[in-house]
This record gives sequence, structure tokens and C-alpha cells, in this order.
Amino acid sequence: PPASMSRRAPIEPQRIDAPLTQSATFLVLTVNEGPEATKTVRSVLSSVADLAKNVAIRDLNASFACTVGIGSSAWDSVTRLPRPAELHPFKEIKGKEHAAISTPGDLLFHIRSERRDLNFEFERQLMDLLGDAVTVVDETNGFRYFDVRDLLGFVDGTANPVGSSVPASILIAEEDASASGGSYVVIQKYIHDLKGWKSMSTEEQESIIGRSKLENIELDDAPDGQQQSHKSLATIEDDDGNEFDILRDNMPFGSPGLGEFGTYFIGYSRRLWVIEKMMERMFVGDPPGLHDRILDFSKPTSGCTFFVPPTTVLDKLIDD
Ligand code: HEM
Repeated sequence: PPASMSRRAPIEPQRIDAPLTQSATFLVLTVNEGPEATKTVRSVLSSVADLAKNVAIRDLNASFACTVGIGSSAWDSVTRLPRPAELHPFKEIKGKEHAAISTPGDLLFHIRSERRDLNFEFERQLMDLLGDAVTVVDETNGFRYFDVRDLLGFVDGTANPVGSSVPASILIAEEDASASGGSYVVIQKYIHDLKGWKSMSTEEQESIIGRSKLENIELDDAPDGQQQSHKSLATIEDDDGNEFDILRDNMPFGSPGLGEFGTYFIGYSRRLWVIEKMMERMFVGDPPGLHDRILDFSKPTSGCTFFVPPTTVLDKLIDD
């Protein structure tokens, strides 16, 4: 087809806006050295959509979806495409007491469905194809806990955008033409001190989160200059009071037998700076020094940033 036609070929984003599911697997990999490994990864990424179809068809009610993210240091060799304008490695943040650390990660697979077995099966087939082209950095299996609560006991995900504001919040448009239809995604794996958390009263916990525990009702912001809640610190507005939303699909994970309790944070955004700003407000505090008290009971053990290209871009990786 003439160039003008192919340029107008429809851009199809990945299923970033897939519904919240009962089960999710977060798989972070690095790409091994050498041209063979890169070639394998390009080939597998171009067939991820087909792999997902193979698994999804086995239970169409299970809302299977997999989104793929590519990290900054792997972007050039894996895609050979222009760099998305904001793509860079995870920015470490050192607050007075808590740090957001940066950890390795070239590829993210965010695998979601109602069924743990479907996620398992997809991951199994995926790892078979990737073989020794990759090294596993972390694999975490999350589960949905009661009414969308995290392990701190609070309903998590309420303020997510809905309806037509979803694409406006998560998908790059004309501001970065070669990246349009894509999204930035940031992950952090948090381990909780549940004993410490549970030693507090419900009222104290509620003031840290910024919502009531049972009924999930928003509490008023604290006056300027005082300790802000998580909800307030994670709210980013421009000078006109317009809020910049991100799409979160946090999942609890853990193992009571091993004493491990965690939240896997994942946030998608059209603007990477918005997520970075949220983290800066959480770890440094507003005013600086008054950090997000959720961090006194939650320690990040990872931190990675990825770009989620449209499916149509992934599909074509092997052709050029
Ligand atoms: C709100 C939990 C980390 C961004 C909330 C809420 C809970 C929660 C319970 C209130 C309900 C809701 O609107 O979803 C957690 C836990 C975390 C965590 C347990 C990790 C230990 C983060 C991080 C970010 C973030 C790292 C961003 C960098 C947000 C945003 C909101 C929110 C944007 C909505 C604020 C609003 O009301 O507009 N979180 N969160 N959270 N969180 Fe987190």
C-alpha cells in the first residue's frame, strides 16, 4: 500500500483497560546478551497476541488479557523504533526515611484473568518460547482479596478513571506521534509490616489512607502543611485544578506460612511524570519530611518503568 495509507493503518492499543480480575501474574524479565536472544525476544513479542488468543479461547468468560511492557535499556535493541518521549529508567527517590529503589527489568508481562490456571498456562507457553533468551527477575502471583481490598484491609482502586476518561488518562495521543496508542507503566513490589499496621487503631489507619475502612468514604484533605493522607499525596493536579488520573490494578500477594504479605503496585499512565510525581510526594512528602505514612508499613523491593506499545506495533516487530 502507498505510504500514506499504511501511515493511517489503525493503531490498536493493548488491553490495558482489561477489567480487574481475580488473579494476576506479574512477570519481570531481563533480555540476555547477544543478537540471538534479541531476535528470539522480537519474535516472541510479535506473536504474544496469538499466544494470548490460544489461551483466552479456552474460557471466554475468564477475561484473559496480557499486557507487555518494554524497559528503557532494552527498547532500542528489541524494537529498533523511535523512543517514546518520556521513556527512561525508573527514577530512584530517596526520602528522609524511605527510598523508592530501581531494580532491573527489560520486559514486563502483566497477565490477568479470573483463573489462576489460565494465567499459569499462558506463562508456561510464553517461557517455553522465550527459553534461554531471558532471565527471570521476579514472578509474583497476585489474588483478589474480598471486596477489592489490599492486605492493609482497605478497598484499593476506587479512584481509578472509568469510561471515556480511561483512554484519555492512559493512552498517548498526538503529543508523541510515534508512541501514540501506547502507555507508560510503573511497578513496585511492596512488602508490608502487617503486625505494625494492625497495632494501630482503625481511625489511625483511615487517616493514613484518606478513606474510611468499612464504607470506603473519602476523608477531607488535611490542612496545608500538615501530614497528608496517601490519597492526598497521590492526587496530582494542574494549576486549574484538573486531576491527572492513572489506572491502577494493584494485587495482594503473599504467604501466611512464610510470613510474607504484600501489595504489587502497578500504574498505567499517558504521562510518566505523573506517576513519578506521585512517588516523589509519597517518599519525600508534602511538605518535605512528612512522607506518606503507608511507607512506614510498606517497603518497596522493586521499581521498574516500561513502555506498553500498541498491539499493532508488537505484531510487526518480526517483519521489518
Ligand atoms: C489510592 C493503597 C501505592 C497511587 C489508594 C487507596 C488505597 C491505596 C487503599 C484508596 C482507594 C483508591 O482510590 O484506590 C495503596 C497501597 C500501596 C499504594 C497498599 C502500596 C503499598 C501507591 C503508589 C502510587 C499510588 C506507589 C503511585 C505512584 C494512588 C492513587 C490513588 C491511590 C493515584 C487515588 C488518589 C485519589 O483519590 O485520587 N491507594 N497504594 N498508590 N493510590 Fe495507592
